[in-house]
Amino acid sequence: MNKEDAKNRITELTALLREHNYKYYVLSAPVISDYEFDFLLKELEELEAAFPEFKLPDSPTQRVGGEPTKEFKTVIHKYPMLSLSNSYSEGEISEFDARVRKLIDGNIEYTCEHKYDGVAIGLTYINGLLTTAVTRGDGTQGDDVTNNVKTIKSIPIRLRGDYPAELEVRGEIFMSIEGFKRLNKEREEKGENLFANPRNSASGTLKMQDPAIVAKRPLDCFIYNTPNEFDHISTHYESLKYLRSIGLKTSTNVAICRTVEDIYEYINDWNEGRVHLDYDIDGVVIKVNNLKQQKELGYTAKSPRWAIAYKFKAERAETRLLSIDYQVGRTGAVTPVANLEPVLLAGTTVKRASLHNADIMQKLDIRIKDLVYVEKGGEIIPKIVGVNTEARKKNTIPVTFAENCPECGTELVRNEGEAAYYCPNEDHCPPQIKGKLEHFISRKAMNIDSLGEGKIEMLFDHHLVNNIADLYDLTFDQLYGLEKVIVDQGKEKKISFQKKSAEKIIAGIEKSKEIPFFKVLFALGIRHVGETVAKKLALHFNNIDLLAEASSEALIEIDEIGEKIAESVINWFEKQEHKEIIVRLKEAGVQLANEASPMQISSDKLDGKSFVVSGVFSSYSREELKLLIEQNGGKNVGSISSKTDFVLAGDNMGPAKRQKAEKLGIPIITEEDFQQMIS
Ligand code: IVH
Repeated sequence: MNKEDAKNRITELTALLREHNYKYYVLSAPVISDYEFDFLLKELEELEAAFPEFKLPDSPTQRVGGEPTKEFKTVIHKYPMLSLSNSYSEGEISEFDARVRKLIDGNIEYTCEHKYDGVAIGLTYINGLLTTAVTRGDGTQGDDVTNNVKTIKSIPIRLRGDYPAELEVRGEIFMSIEGFKRLNKEREEKGENLFANPRNSASGTLKMQDPAIVAKRPLDCFIYNTPNEFDHISTHYESLKYLRSIGLKTSTNVAICRTVEDIYEYINDWNEGRVHLDYDIDGVVIKVNNLKQQKELGYTAKSPRWAIAYKFKAERAETRLLSIDYQVGRTGAVTPVANLEPVLLAGTTVKRASLHNADIMQKLDIRIKDLVYVEKGGEIIPKIVGVNTEARKKNTIPVTFAENCPECGTELVRNEGEAAYYCPNEDHCPPQIKGKLEHFISRKAMNIDSLGEGKIEMLFDHHLVNNIADLYDLTFDQLYGLEKVIVDQGKEKKISFQKKSAEKIIAGIEKSKEIPFFKVLFALGIRHVGETVAKKLALHFNNIDLLAEASSEALIEIDEIGEKIAESVINWFEKQEHKEIIVRLKEAGVQLANEASPMQISSDKLDGKSFVVSGVFSSYSREELKLLIEQNGGKNVGSISSKTDFVLAGDNMGPAKRQKAEKLGIPIITEEDFQQMIS
């Protein structure tokens, strides 16, 4: 591609991606698939790499995060970032309305909107470009977190349409509940501390020094205000609509209310409706809609007179604590669960509630027969939040956390710095054995889909399978006709394995012997060894024996592997039982080494040949393939031209690329073809 064409295409792609971003993140109405979007983004990345001089300041490729910041610069807000006065009852809303009406003549209209539970942010756009993003700080000055904010996809780097030369907007950065859960799951896998709630995880993320990490966290943002004034806009509602039209994400759940009753209705609707939102709100913000009236009302020292926040009360009930159960999870973590006298809470009868962990139990000084407060927050399982100690009777019984595992009797342990107690008997405690087996057969691990939770339970109950190696000793005769009693609509029923399903199970287990080493390593269920860590370990050590012998130092040397993971790996391989399992898996033919050590092959087999790698692959990542090409003497090029020798195509390679390769007569090869070439 010549310079002129490259420049034009870069400009075109930048604008195109901006529009698609807007449709996806702001309007929630994408017109192309994620894959097509990534494909265009990839094309832009490649062009920018080849012609860095044409990269535009608003390029969407910046979303991956820039250089780390040592210390955030302090920035003084051009307009102070105030807070809102809070209210907790309908009466207080009426008082607010009365205050407003006393100061303003004429018709009053309010807007009601969500009070997002996140972190306030002030954004400045100069000539349409995002120049600074500052946290609220003390209201007068805050931290410059621009590089981090640039990674948030719902915040435009460049505005669209008709925007003023200088624009300041205010909003709230938050993490979706799903994003928060996903992040915590990943952190748990890596043995990192968990975030308590989406708000903490948003504020913790925003203050991180490395934008590249921020880019991987699912932050989002709603814009709710601008201190700028516009000739053509006379209400807050219109200003939100305008902000949306120039590319900023504003909420669509804003309502105009003319009476206090309308406001109550909005509050009550969302107090119930918030459980269905994918983000946390902690109340409703009520604002005078007319901007001229807002100005007339003005501010107190701390907050505007034209707005008030209504904070939701968590739904709470009082009931009696009957007993405490201890539940052992698949990972061995033991959680206390309270059995309660049934009580109605937010429309459902609650009989059980979470008691969190030993520390909280102790802090609450909870006793059996106490009257306790139960709350239903954003979580599905209600929780105990307090004890009515005033109503405590003499017959209450103090409790101490279980010392032994309720399932297998083993003494529980608690690792330093962790809140949870664990049952250390990971290989013999029934829920843990079943958990390990279920993890082993799961889709991302050995992918034995002919077995499932129920079938694993059946095999375990019949003492046919006690650990993962036992699966490979199963025979058709053992499975055929195996029975289980289930209760279906109150009636006991016997089910048994038919010929077909027994055959399928055996075939599924057989097929799992083809699963590559890194997935097997993940399947073993070593604590803190998630998918990513397993891949890293497999790439580094090449086979299970090398990994089993690795020292803590050798493990820690690997990128992203810390002491916690290293210790867990070493402990796992030290156990005699695990050594035996490895021997048996090996004998069964399970892959415990990288095939032909692909990452260590180096040759001149691809000497002088140039490759374009495109699409999604099953055995390697794109980066790994590129590395292999280089290690074998080949060259990676960004885009297809007549000089390209091969196109290495994975799933979902874009149609344009395929067409181009075909037109130029360049061979399109698969991952398997490629493996052949270098083997
Ligand atoms: S308007 C002058 N609207 O609540 C202040 N604030 O104490 C105008 N917040 O720090 C704020 N959702 O971060 C406004 N829809 C919303 C909001 C909202 C959340 C936060 C904001 C501020 C705090 C107020």
